[in-house]
Order: sequence, then C-alpha cells, then structure tokens
Amino acid sequence: MTTQIDSVATLSSVSRIFKGKTGTVHALDNVSFDLKAGKTLALVGESGSGKTTAARVLLGLDQPTSGSIDVLGRNLGSLKYEELRLLRREIQVVQQDPFSQLNRRHSVERIISSPLIAFNIGDKQSRRNQVIELLKAVGLEEEHLNRRPHELSGGQCQRVAIARALAVDPKIVVLDEAVSALDVSVRAQVLNLLRDIQASRGLTYLFITHDLGVAHYMADEIAVMFRGRIVERGNRDDVFKESRHHYTVGLLSSVPLATPPTEKRVDKVVQSLPSPEVDDACNYRSRCAVGLGREDCKSLPIQITQGSSTHSWLCHSPVVRS
Ligand SMILES: Nc1ncnc2c1ncn2[C@@H]1O[C@H](COP(=O)(O)OP(=O)(O)OP(=O)(O)O)[C@@H](O)[C@H]1O
Ligand SMILES: [Mg+2]
Repeated sequence: MTTQIDSVATLSSVSRIFKGKTGTVHALDNVSFDLKAGKTLALVGESGSGKTTAARVLLGLDQPTSGSIDVLGRNLGSLKYEELRLLRREIQVVQQDPFSQLNRRHSVERIISSPLIAFNIGDKQSRRNQVIELLKAVGLEEEHLNRRPHELSGGQCQRVAIARALAVDPKIVVLDEAVSALDVSVRAQVLNLLRDIQASRGLTYLFITHDLGVAHYMADEIAVMFRGRIVERGNRDDVFKESRHHYTVGLLSSVPLATPPTEKRVDKVVQSLPSPEVDDACNYRSRCAVGLGREDCKSLPIQITQGSSTHSWLCHSPVVRS
C-alpha cells in the first residue's frame, strides 16, 4: 500500500520576468514543483539559475509574472496583505550570510523573539522562556541570550537564525544557501541539526544549494535548475543514480559524495547568463555536447518527459539508461 504524502506548497507553471535597462531576464520560466509534508526538496543549479527567485515567490516576497503559488491550501495571488502576513508565520526563511541577516545592534534574545513580538505571541517572560528553549534546541545556551551577533561565531549566528525561523513554529522553512558560508566541520554540524529539527518537528524544507554533496545528504527530492527552468526533477536516487539530463550529468561528474559532507568541495559558481532570445526550445542546447548538432533540439518546443511517477526531465535526447 502506498501512502499519499500531502503537498504543503505548490508552484504551478510560474514565470518571473525582470525587465530592466540591460534587457529582459527570464528568471523563472514555467517552473512547477511541490513541497511534500515533512520532506526536503533540494533546489540545485549554478549561480543565476533562478533558485532564490523561486524561493522569493514562494515566500510571497515577489510576485510571479504568471502562474500560481499555493501555500498550505491558500493561493498567494488571492491573499490580502494581512492574510499574507499571517501566512508568513507558517513559512520562514534562513539565508546564506550568518552575520548580515541578523541585526548587529540587537541581542540574541531580541533577534529570536522578534517574530514572536511581530505576531503578538506571549508576554515578555513567556517569550524569554521560549527563546531559551529555542536556544537549547539549536545547541546554544542561556548564556548566549545577551550576546550581540559580533560576539558569536558564524556557526553560532546561523544557529540563531535557525532559532528565529523556528520561533513561530512554522510548517515550512526555506533554507537559501543556509550553510554555504560556514566552514566545513561547522557546516556538517548545522546540517545534522537541521535534520534533527526536521525529524522532531515534522518540518518541510525547501533547501537551496550549489553544493550537490549537501543536496545528496539532505534531500528526499531534487530539482535541478538551469537558466530559469527545472531541467530534471526526481527522488534523490533518480537524480543522482539515474540522471537523464546532460546538464545534471555534467554537474554530478565532479562531485564526491560523502555522508555527511566533510571535505571542502569546489562549488560550481558559474554565472548562468540569461538567454536574450528565450524560445520554447531547449535552453541548454548551446552547452550540450549532444544537442549542439541536433536540429530537433534547436527547433522543437521542449516538453517534460515523465519517466516514472517520481522522475521527469526536459530533454529531447536524454542520457540512455539500461
Ligand atoms: N530584482 C531583480 N531584477 C533584475 N534581475 C533579477 C532580479 N532578481 C534576480 N534577477 C536575475 O534573475 C536571475 C536569477 O537570479 P537568482 O537570484 O534567482 O539566481 P540564483 O540561482 O539564486 O543564483 P545564486 O546561486 O547566485 O544565488 C539572474 O539572472 C538575476 O540576475
Ligand atoms: Mg540565490
């Protein structure tokens, strides 16, 4: 018997186009994915591929040009300002830079209690008790309450940011390169902490990373982005062991997979240049050894191939697997 896992958030055919003096950027081009309750979806891809834009539209911090977003059964496009504000209690974010995301003038207590104050939860004493509990949950102590961010290490700051995200007891946490700035041993500790917290609180993660080793360690499902499109999506083993898109295969070819990741890797930080003439054909064709010479890759509209109930890709001539 298969168990149906509920989706807690869905992006359906979402596009986001930025128009500026330097041209038009298709940051998201017909992107669809869902987050399953209690699971982790890792969004991977090179710099500029649209990962943060996807997170921002999901968080309601940016409006899509087209498409729809549902979070916990609510359509973001139909929500009024106050309804969206209240929904933010259920979906929190932790960002990359441990220092810049925390107000350096504020104490740890004030930083972690700020969402409780914003949502009018508890009184001063109960908030203090809750902050102490949260500090313990992220491996810090009561003695850290009065410290300022500059009196903490990068890993401790990131723990404070995680505690702040957990304060209002959200159902979904978006982690946008949340461990990328940490050194390797601290990164492994924070990843393990995130996994423990997920298990104990039943949280759903959207986990954005350049680092495929980290994605392998954390994810149940993986979506690979290239220039605004999801080019391959599947369960972790579908994508890592049975990759069908040539871009995924290229990304994976240089990645040593450790569990948990313990050694420093060279992250792929290649700027994904937005294509000026976005068309319906494959947008990877000019970088693809297979697609470069093929007429159908240049001219045929690209469509999702659903290889199995969990695994799909966007390629006319996918890698052949036996
Ligand atoms: N506010 C904006 N105005 C104009 N262009 C934008 C804006 N935000 C993002 N972009 C462009 O959209 C594309 C996707 O950006 P995004 O930040 O989503 O990429 P990313 O995958 O998160 O990259 P990184 O790994 O470097 O964080 C890029 O070309 C970026 O320059
Ligand atoms: Mg980003």
